[in-house]
Amino acid sequence: MNILFASSEAHPLIKTGGLADVSGSLPRAILGLRHDIRVIIPAYREILRYAEHLTLAAYLDLEGVSQPVRILSGRLPGGNVKLYLVDSPSHFDRAGNPYTSRSGSPWPDNAERFTVFCRAIHALAVNAAGLDWQPDIVHCNDWQTGLVPVMLRETSAAPASIFTIHNLAYQGLFDWKTFQSLKLPADWWSVDALEFHNKFSFIKGGLIYADWLTTVSPTYADEICTPEFGYGLEGLLNHRKETLTGILNGGDYTIWNPGRDLHIPVQFNPRSLFHKTENKRALQEHFSLPVDNAVPLFAVISRLVEQKGIDLILEILPDLVKQNAQLVILGSGDNKLEAALRLASTRHPEHIGIHIGYDEVLAHHIEAGADIFLMPSRFEPCGLNQIYSLRYGTVPVVRSTGGLADTVVDTTPETLEDKTATGFRFHTASASALWGAVERALDHYRKPESWAQIVITGMRQDFSWKRSAQQYVELYARVMARQQNAQPLRKTVIQ
Ligand code: ADP
Ligand code: GLC
Repeated sequence: MNILFASSEAHPLIKTGGLADVSGSLPRAILGLRHDIRVIIPAYREILRYAEHLTLAAYLDLEGVSQPVRILSGRLPGGNVKLYLVDSPSHFDRAGNPYTSRSGSPWPDNAERFTVFCRAIHALAVNAAGLDWQPDIVHCNDWQTGLVPVMLRETSAAPASIFTIHNLAYQGLFDWKTFQSLKLPADWWSVDALEFHNKFSFIKGGLIYADWLTTVSPTYADEICTPEFGYGLEGLLNHRKETLTGILNGGDYTIWNPGRDLHIPVQFNPRSLFHKTENKRALQEHFSLPVDNAVPLFAVISRLVEQKGIDLILEILPDLVKQNAQLVILGSGDNKLEAALRLASTRHPEHIGIHIGYDEVLAHHIEAGADIFLMPSRFEPCGLNQIYSLRYGTVPVVRSTGGLADTVVDTTPETLEDKTATGFRFHTASASALWGAVERALDHYRKPESWAQIVITGMRQDFSWKRSAQQYVELYARVMARQQNAQPLRKTVIQ
């Protein structure tokens, strides 16, 4: 099959979160299954600096863009996946991250930027870019690609589309004036189309018009059909339940493997766990914490946002300190959370180490050196860090939601007995429930035998991309077959 994989970020070219990890790894796994999958992302400034051997593949004249948009072609680093970059300098060649300026506020022209991106994806999808290649499937990811399924629905002989929800909390909502300025078909502004509570919703484009919906874990697929997690879209998602599948993300063990990780001071595996201690020592030194192997070392690597339950961690800090535990935190995001964490670390320099910012090498080092990983997310579509933590023998303490529930097996007398325990789970999003799980973890930490068993069972879990990639490929085939039968229903060509 020919697949065009559209995403607004892809590791290692550009990353703000797990979407980049998925877009960097899943296409490689699908290519490994011998399908012609090509990735398309915007040509942000950072990518143009980093990417090598790019060639000019096409010029596109897109509606609403005064300059021709260039399609650059290359390879996604670290593999052989073909890459297309949508190069529209006035939209993407600027300092800052894909969605926000350096000060952290969303780019005021985000709607226009990602409409241009969607138009370019559509042009490639219908083989109108002169590349002499047409996908059978367009795999769209998150709201930034949400208009593509609508555009495809309105095009004759278009490929089928799949829309993957990585996080329903981000919907790409814009006001009426912005909608008007985009010069999209007027009938898209309707509750049955892309209007949502008097806003123009990019994500609805995917949710209504894609031939199939997926999300990144089976539990999250169920959760988003409920009012608690559905943000008012649960009715629509329930309506599409027959065409909504949860496929668990994988961990890329070519990047996240403690046995081969060159970012960490000492490599280790389940048979050489004693080397993990050396990483712990180096991590304690890095954060100027007292070097002591007996002290339990907790870690957090996260976007510092409400989703991740960072406030719950702040609430349990006094208890962690009382227990003489240590905590290292790597993250950035909400100013208030950043400030509160900074303050805590100033107050308790012997217990709390903090690095505000984004640092990939440090993220690896933390996974390698910490004992326990905290992820008390209010919701978590999949979550990748708990998957990496398992592989690095850093026992996850997680809230039982989304992909966290699907990847971590709680420690109970039964799961210890049958040797399936890999971490600690709690249910209610409260500091006391989190503390309950932390106390259980600390209890086991003090029993070296059961701790070693939990650590090693976690390290031996296999969440590699292979199985998930196979599931996507099966879905692509199914959707293609379905679409061929439905083809006569499609509308005529739009410009
Ligand atoms: P989300 O996509 O919601 O942020 P995930 O757990 O799916 O959550 O993915 C987060 C990814 O981003 C992981 O690869 C994690 O290591 C990385 N990450 C998050 N914050 C930082 C940071 N401050 N520095 C380095 N890597 C980070
Ligand atoms: C989103 C989710 C996260 C998921 C990632 C990749 O950012 O918040 O849970 O792992 O996408 O799918």
